[in-house]
Formats: sequence, C-alpha cells, structure tokens
Amino acid sequence: MKVDGKDIRPIWFDSSEGVVKIIDQRVLPYELKIVALKNVDEIIKAIKEMYVRGAPLIGVTGAYGAFLAACNLGEENINDESLINECKRIKDSRPTAINLPWAVDRVCSQILKGKTAAERIEIAKIEAEKIADFEVDNCKRIGEHGLSLLEKISLNKKGSTVNILTHCNAGWLACIEYGTATAPMYAAYDKGIDIHVWVDETRPLNQGARLTAWELSKYGVKNTIIPDNTGGHLMQHGMVDIVIVGSDRTTYTGDVANKIGTYLKALAAHDNNIPFYVALPSTSFDWTIRNGLSDIPIEKRNPDEVRYIKGFHNGKVEDILITNQSYNALNFAFDVTPSRLVTGFITERGVCNANEESLKFMFPENTKN
Ligand code: MRU
Repeated sequence: MKVDGKDIRPIWFDSSEGVVKIIDQRVLPYELKIVALKNVDEIIKAIKEMYVRGAPLIGVTGAYGAFLAACNLGEENINDESLINECKRIKDSRPTAINLPWAVDRVCSQILKGKTAAERIEIAKIEAEKIADFEVDNCKRIGEHGLSLLEKISLNKKGSTVNILTHCNAGWLACIEYGTATAPMYAAYDKGIDIHVWVDETRPLNQGARLTAWELSKYGVKNTIIPDNTGGHLMQHGMVDIVIVGSDRTTYTGDVANKIGTYLKALAAHDNNIPFYVALPSTSFDWTIRNGLSDIPIEKRNPDEVRYIKGFHNGKVEDILITNQSYNALNFAFDVTPSRLVTGFITERGVCNANEESLKFMFPENTKN
C-alpha cells in the first residue's frame, strides 16, 4: 500500500543487507520506524512484543524466521533436527493465530527437501516470499467478494453513507496488502461508494485507534475512532449497517477467535439485526478443531499492558500508568465468537455461511469428514 506516495509493506526481505525488514507497529501512528531482523531470536522478539502483529503477518514473519534459521545455522549445523527445533521456537512465540504454525511448517517442510545448505536457504527464501504473495492475493480476492456486500447496502440506502464497524486492526498492516476486514472497504472506496468506518479503539493496545485509523486516513477513507463500549449504542440507533472483523483462528465449524471484545460486538449486532461478517483467508482456518470455545488456545498477555497506556507526549512515545501498579489486572488477548452469531465469512473463494457444511463446500480439500 502507499504511505505518503511511497509503496511499502509491513515486512520484506532486503537482499542488499541480507536482513528482514519490518514496520515497527508499536510506535505507529507517531513514527514510521523500520526495524531490521537478522536472526531467529529477533524474529521471536518481534512477534512476542508485537512489533508485528495480525494473523497473516505473524505467519509471514514466522516464514521469514524459518528462512533466517536456515541462513544462520551454517553448513555444519544445518541438519533436520536443528532446523525443526528453530522452527518450533518460532511457532511457540504466540499461540492463537494459526497462520504462524501453518506458515512455519510449510517453509520447514520445503527446506527439508534441500540437500545442501545453499539449496535449503534458497528454497526457504522462495517459500517465504510465496507465502507473502499468497496472502496478498487472498486479501485482494476478499476485497472483491466483500465489495458486493457493501454495494448491496449502498443500493438499499440509495447511495447514502454505508456505516461499517470494525474491531482491532485487520488491515494491510496485519496482512501485507489490502487487509482482510479492510479489503472490502478499500475496494468500495475505490469504486466511489460512500463509506464511513467506526473504528473501535481496541484496548489495551489500541490497534484500532493507532493502526486502523492511520491506515484508513492515509487512504482517504472516512473514519471515526470510538471507545470500545460505544458500538452497542450506535447499533441501537441505526448508525451501523454492517460489522466486519478479521480472525486469528476459525474452526471448521465456524467459531471465530479474534481480538478480545469481538464477541461483545457480535452479541450487540445479533440483538440489533445487523449483519456481522468475518473476513479471513483460508490460512486462518483451523481444520482440526470443532469447538472453538474449548479448544482454541487463547493468549494471556502481560497485565502491564492493561495498567499502562502507550501515547505520544513531549515529542516521544511514552508508557503512562493509568491505575495503581499494584492493582490486579487480567489481559486475555482474544475471545471466541460462536458461529451462531456470525452472519457469514468473506474468504478468497467467496462469501459463505458460518457453518461446517458451507465451509466443507467452500474448501473441500481441507475439511475433515
Ligand atoms: O494481538 P493482535 O494485534 O495480533 O491481534 C490482531 C487481531 O485480532 C486481528 O483482528 C486478526 O489478527 C485478524 S488480522 C487480519
């Protein structure tokens, strides 16, 4: 996507320096800071500490991590066991987004086909880049399929503003290009459809207020940041036409894990008869889990992320204590929205219902019997 006229992705391999480069999302929108990652430890730190975040991007970062593992192990240490161990360390860095193990396993299994160290490094680089391009293509298609939903609403409203509510950041920063939840928004904007986006601030790390608002504003899409608890009120007053969110892991039965607070938005949408869509690529489905509530691993993060808030003060990014340091705080990063509250999925293959039958039909090669 373009930032101030320049094409940029949240991750790329810089062949001239032999490093993986990322946008440090911790300091957006205050600063566009690029960080170089040289080895597996730095990849793991970037994922754990959320320099990079969002399911598809975490996956691609893990894929580049497997590539760096191959580069750094060297001719004498690059055996199957050491590679598998390095890949396991990367996969363990965050538990919820299924894109991470999917992408790392895919690179790892390809690397193991190489005979020499040089061959393995080349295979790893090609595979990581393939995964990045695959996610770009997925998001582009999600945009095309999601566009039809927004067009329909616009038509029903005789061209007046379509109000979309979204939670967290499921934009290009989370996905390489276009985003998942944002892809239909960008496609609608490009087509001249009048849209406006309600952006949940998304406490505690404010991915909505910091990242989604930044992305949409840079593109020119009208948006308004709202405190996380505002969505229900807006829905009751006819101010939301559709909710579109992303997902970190969705079961083959249609249960959706996404940023904490998504479930409450789905409940409010259900109560107000507002369509609630989840936009996600096939790489975010877990084809082994039936019950999302009991079986999707939910990450618990440091409670200091709740006690402190990051902001821009006196020309620098600072952490401000917003309560007493000694008070108890709890920080689940995701929740699960049961399939019955999901109107449908917007995938790279089209829009479908949130149930096992529809998903089997849409992705026959992946589903279990
Ligand atoms: O904790 P984060 O910022 O990695 O969580 C991200 C989300 O919850 C996104 O909504 C999800 O990954 C979908 S991204 C296309």
